[in-house]
Amino acid sequence: MIELTHDCSCENNPLVPTVCKVIEITEETSDVKSFRVQTLDGALPFRFVPGQLGMLGIVEHGECMFCVSMGGADWLEFTVKKVGTVTERLHLLYPGSQVIVRGPYGNAWPVEQCKGHNMLFIAGGIGLPPVRTFLLHTLAFRADYGRIDLVYSASTKADLVFKEQLFDLWPAEPNTHIHVSVYRPSEDWEGPVEYTAPFLTSLGLDISHTTAVLCGGPSLYRTCSKALAEMGVPDDHILTTLEMRMKCGIGKCGRCNVGSKYICLDGPVFTQAEVNAMLKD
Ligand code: FES
Repeated sequence: MIELTHDCSCENNPLVPTVCKVIEITEETSDVKSFRVQTLDGALPFRFVPGQLGMLGIVEHGECMFCVSMGGADWLEFTVKKVGTVTERLHLLYPGSQVIVRGPYGNAWPVEQCKGHNMLFIAGGIGLPPVRTFLLHTLAFRADYGRIDLVYSASTKADLVFKEQLFDLWPAEPNTHIHVSVYRPSEDWEGPVEYTAPFLTSLGLDISHTTAVLCGGPSLYRTCSKALAEMGVPDDHILTTLEMRMKCGIGKCGRCNVGSKYICLDGPVFTQAEVNAMLKD
């Protein structure tokens, strides 16, 4: 049984903003960009563990909560979809722009407890960035994990994020299988055309000793958690992050409660068993 820890304390005070600079921008799709940031003196904005989030913002325009999608020794990366006023402003940034960063927030993916497991990562569209730090951790400590599968779908080829990693880097890792599908194919798409849940079941995976990690929209979540249950994956071996519900991150705004739980204080990473219990509260 996987029991999630909520002790992800670190030396940073997530209420105190740090002025940072954008050092690199990657245009993932027409409405998704990844921003690599570091402090003005070239240091890591805050220490994090896979699954945690941070605030990224601009002084005059406000800030929003995003999962850290990747991290290096002296930088963090946030992957931002343009969906509102603040994210539209963030998309106008350029290398050298100043931003404010706060964090970390939330608990973490249970990377230690999953050692020895086969890992099945399932993501849809912009659901891949919150999963990426966990996937990268398993690849960095490859010998600690069994077979790794990533099942990733988006509406069209143009909506796939992290294309270089999806098509070049990750498939080259040992015992790592990357399955990418779209459900509205363009003429130049040669891969599978499929929704995620049926694609998942068609793979015929041996799910024994497997932990599934799931992140996507409500439809993907509903259909894939049902498919995983039918495949025999126990509820406490299905992990998800509900990070999209987080706003203030510190239990003050009341935006994230489900039943008696606060996503920001008790999560955002939960097992399916915990989600089921929350929905019954
Ligand atoms: S995000 Fe504000 S209370 Fe949880």
